[in-house]
Amino acid sequence: MLAPAEVSRIDKRDLLGIMSSLPEQMVFGLDQGSALDLPSDVRRIFIVGMGGSAIAADVFAAWTMDRRATDIQVIRDYRLPAHASEGDIVIAVTYSGDTEETLSAASQAVRIGCKLIGVSSGGKLADFCKENRMERVGVPQGYPPRGAFGYLFGTIAGLCRGVIVDNIDKEIKKAAVHLEEERKALNPDKSTKVNRAKSIALKVYGKTPIIYGSMAFAPVARRWQTEFNENAKILAWASSFPEADHNEIEGWGGSQSSGRFQPIFLRDRNETDELRMRIDATRGIIGRKAKPIEVEDKGDSLLSRMLGTLLLGDLASIYLAVLRKVDPYPVISIDALKAKLRSQGSASES
Ligand code: PA5
Repeated sequence: MLAPAEVSRIDKRDLLGIMSSLPEQMVFGLDQGSALDLPSDVRRIFIVGMGGSAIAADVFAAWTMDRRATDIQVIRDYRLPAHASEGDIVIAVTYSGDTEETLSAASQAVRIGCKLIGVSSGGKLADFCKENRMERVGVPQGYPPRGAFGYLFGTIAGLCRGVIVDNIDKEIKKAAVHLEEERKALNPDKSTKVNRAKSIALKVYGKTPIIYGSMAFAPVARRWQTEFNENAKILAWASSFPEADHNEIEGWGGSQSSGRFQPIFLRDRNETDELRMRIDATRGIIGRKAKPIEVEDKGDSLLSRMLGTLLLGDLASIYLAVLRKVDPYPVISIDALKAKLRSQGSASES
């Protein structure tokens, strides 16, 4: 089961290989973004983007949360918040360069006098930045947006490194080395007995995963959800502690169908004591209905562990696609919806 030949037969365009290039992408992106390096005294940075582009910003913002005085807000919308004003920096991240929500927020940024920086592989954002004499960092073309996570994350980190109190370059490069090690252990040639991504895929097969993260791991849980959605083509949900203990846990207790769901807890050795006790206690309650899968990366820095956990989810979702015999690469519904909206006249062109 999940032998290399079967994986490459279903994963025809080698999405697994693309996702596994995360460490190289990240280092490349860091170099690109560092060429523009923002001033350290900026008050506020808005990073606008959607889906596979926005998640790179979420992960960066969560990782650096305690290490900057600058507020970084990730905006998934057509509009910037009303408090955005001249002097703020807006980084518009759209892998394709054509996402209407992102283009709309980017043009609002220019209208109100923010400094705009584009990040894309080309598309309309490239033209827009040129016409408005705004800078843009290009990322390589030919990837699905979610497969360019490393390029986008590295670029955002390179752009924002000036607002982080300490030097992050070394940490990113160290995390890349950790990821190179991790991916070997998750490779298709490793059997299900030793390959954690394969074993998670087998446990999730036939169920709906609900992925729980806390602190910096909340956006990683969201990435797991969206990778299960887009690669394995299944419904999945992400949730976070401690919030889930104040509502969702009740659903586990009452639901007749809770056995259909697979809880996955993304753990970290640096969880605060109160969170650790809380999550352990929650496991006891949810565990009466469904045994949680617990995942914990052994990397020696927070970023290594965040990205090691992220890579594990990426690859588990692709192995699940193989088990389900669906090509993980195309996103037919997303593309169909975008085409329909385009044919009706995009909001960003109005
Ligand atoms: O993974 C995907 O394909 C989507 O989530 C896209 O990232 C999303 O639709 C936005 O597109 P883009 O990343 O090109 O701006």
